[in-house]
Amino acid sequence: MQGFTIAFVPTMGYLHEGHISLMEKGRQLADVLIASIFVNPAQFGPGEDYDAYPRNPQKDSALAQKAGVDVLFMPEKNQLYPEKYETYITQSNLPRFLCGLSRPTHFTGVMTIVAKLFNIVKPHYAVFGQKDYQQLAIIRKMTHDLNFDIKIVGAPIVREPDGLAMSSRNKYLSPEQRRSALALSRALAQAQQSVATGEIRASALIETAQKTITSVRETAIDYVVIGDPETLEEVSVIDRPVLMALAVKVGQTRLIDNCILSPPVDKTS
Ligand code: PAF
Repeated sequence: MQGFTIAFVPTMGYLHEGHISLMEKGRQLADVLIASIFVNPAQFGPGEDYDAYPRNPQKDSALAQKAGVDVLFMPEKNQLYPEKYETYITQSNLPRFLCGLSRPTHFTGVMTIVAKLFNIVKPHYAVFGQKDYQQLAIIRKMTHDLNFDIKIVGAPIVREPDGLAMSSRNKYLSPEQRRSALALSRALAQAQQSVATGEIRASALIETAQKTITSVRETAIDYVVIGDPETLEEVSVIDRPVLMALAVKVGQTRLIDNCILSPPVDKTS
């Protein structure tokens, strides 16, 4: 497609408003919008939900068309990972934090599929959601390190009216679990409020968030971390905008969410 700019939105399907917002962003960026739907086996660990991951290709096709997608790429597993496939991408640093601790092979799977899709689609822009903050950081780094001539664009988290971050996995939640899942966004909002009113100790903010999350039924915390937004390394004092990220199992469903904590601007200095 010479002479045209291409924006690309890779997804695993079961599209929701979060994905649609990525597509709308892509639509604004380039002449042609390409999206992909592929549930990537390489990013699921043993015992994770690859087989159960929700799929609805027909509905997804209609939604993508409505969102202005020009080309929807829906490859089969054996087209991307034929027999004897054996090349995978690793990264030394960012995958050591947050989700990488409990999902040690996940980001290798993500980087591998994203790089393959980049080579197939050859986009000028690629849009990723900030809900997967660590994924976005890792893909930015991979794009830079591997000299992909692609501008990576981050798009804000899209939430349900009650605060729950949109995710295809929300489908797994029972009504009661869905109520419990609201503790994630509540914990983040409380932390933002505390920082706005002067709390600068990461340990105190983390403890409060942990209490908020564990006070509701069926929650098990994977991590609640406050870290540097670039390196993801933990910080102890909120003396600049920092990342607060969490991963929590609600029943069997692992959910993630995050926000930026910004200390109030000191107007006296
Ligand atoms: O964020 C996702 O849906 C997936 O990790 C991605 C980027 C499509 C790679 O499979």
